[in-house]
This record gives sequence, structure tokens and C-alpha cells, in this order.
Amino acid sequence: MRLILLGPPGAGKGTQAESLSATLGIPHISTGDMFREAVAAGTPLGREAKSYMDAGKLVPDEVTIGIVRERLDRPDARSGFVLDGFPRTVPQAEALDEILKDLSEKIDAVVCIDVPEDKLVRRLSRRRVCRGCGAIYHLETKPPGPDGRCTVCGGELYQRDDDTEETVRRRLEVYRLQTEPLIRYYEKRGLLRTVSGDKDIDSVNRDTLAALGRA
Ligand code: AP5
Ligand code: MG
Ligand code: ZN
Repeated sequence: MRLILLGPPGAGKGTQAESLSATLGIPHISTGDMFREAVAAGTPLGREAKSYMDAGKLVPDEVTIGIVRERLDRPDARSGFVLDGFPRTVPQAEALDEILKDLSEKIDAVVCIDVPEDKLVRRLSRRRVCRGCGAIYHLETKPPGPDGRCTVCGGELYQRDDDTEETVRRRLEVYRLQTEPLIRYYEKRGLLRTVSGDKDIDSVNRDTLAALGRA
């Protein structure tokens, strides 16, 4: 299955993509994670991406499209994938259509996770991420282990640099202006399924699988 997860910052794309990846046996492809790995590794891509990410802005389309094109061409992605955080602009969506056409593939469904804006800021200010394996925690709704570490790998947890209130507000504005138009883009193509993300993590997971006909 070839899936796109759409939704504002903090909607739960990463959280849901992880479990969909495990349930459906397809790789989880997150452009945000790819950029953060490049930042941690100190590569030229990382240095370029960091300035945009810290400002809550989008990395330029040509850079982002290039890394996705390479990633989708890898063998593990040829029989399916769940895209998290890509596409985020209309030119990215058009480029994805072209990339998949070249590979003789197509998107099966786009799931938009819908969460009221006031809840998003709260979710992001209390998010913690594992430095070791990338597992996503929340101090209230998905707490770390009793030692304050990752329950999967024991790794140290950190707070993302772009999870400050000011940067979150900027990211939400960028989402409204540049990414929200994609809802209409995929609705017109008959691919859009909307799921409420304003429920506990397991319920959102069940609703998403039901929307995909996999419940
Ligand atoms: P990216 O990493 O994609 O960030 P984002 O889209 O802002 O989304 P988040 O990762 O913040 O939220 P999420 O929806 O994954 O929520 P999560 O599951 O963590 O992008 C970061 C930056 O990279 C961008 O700003 C941009 O600069 C750059 N970038 C990335 N892709 C790009 C692209 N295509 N083009 C250009 N630039 C790009 O959950 C959030 C919190 O809520 C967690 O604490 C979680 O535990 C908790 N939670 C999750 N679900 C629930 C629930 N149902 N109930 C209660 N709590 C929940
Ligand atoms: Mg994410
Ligand atoms: Zn971990």
C-alpha cells in the first residue's frame, strides 16, 4: 500500500506512521526525520535544512523533492510506503505524481489527521523524542519510562529545537498557507480520507485502518 499522511504539526503523523509501518509491513518515510538525521550528521544537506527548520519554514522544494526521489527508488520502498510530512506544497505533490509515474506506481490513499489548533501547541510543547531510535513520547499522553528514558531502546529523550511556542505558531501558519491546499488537491482525485486525530492514539490508529479498509 502507498500512503500519504497529511495533517498539521503535532497531529500525530509520526506516531501513526510508525504503527502503520509495522502493521502493514511498509517503510515509514519522514522527510522531517531525514532532515534531522542530516542535521545530526553535520552534512551539507543538514546545514542547509537546519536554518529553515529552526525558523519554522519549509526547506526549498527542489532539495526536498530530490531526497524523496532517491528514497522512493530504494528497493524497500518499491512495494509500498507511508509518507509522513511529504508532500507539503502543491509543487511537491505534482513532483510526487511524476516520480511515481516514472516508477509505474500510484498513491492508494491520503489520510488527513484532523486536530483542533489549540490542542496542537500543547501536544508539541510536551513532546519528547528518543535520540537513539526516534520513538515519540508525550509527557502526559504517551509517557516515557519511569527513568525518563525511551521504553524501546533505553535512549535519552530530547526536545526538538522547533518545538518552542513561537516556532510552532510559525509552523502552523506555514501549514495553513502552503500545505492545507493539498487537502483539496487529493480530494479532487478521490484519494482523501479524513480521520479525527482528537482521540487517544489507539483509537486514531483503529479509525485510520478502518478508513483504509484494513480494520
Ligand atoms: P516534520 O518533522 O514533518 O514536523 P511537522 O509536520 O511539523 O510535524 P510533527 O513531527 O511536529 O508532528 P506529527 O504530526 O508527526 O506529530 P507526532 O506524532 O510527533 O517537519 C519538521 C520540519 O522539517 C519542517 O518545519 C520543515 O522545516 C522541514 N520539512 C519536513 N518535511 C518537509 C517537506 N516536505 N518540505 C519542506 N520542508 C520539510 O505527535 C505530536 C505529539 O503528540 C507527540 O508528543 C505524541 O506523543 C503526541 N500524540 C500523538 N498522537 C496523539 C493522540 N492521538 N493523542 C494525544 N497525544 C498524541
Ligand atoms: Mg512528525
Ligand atoms: Zn529509543
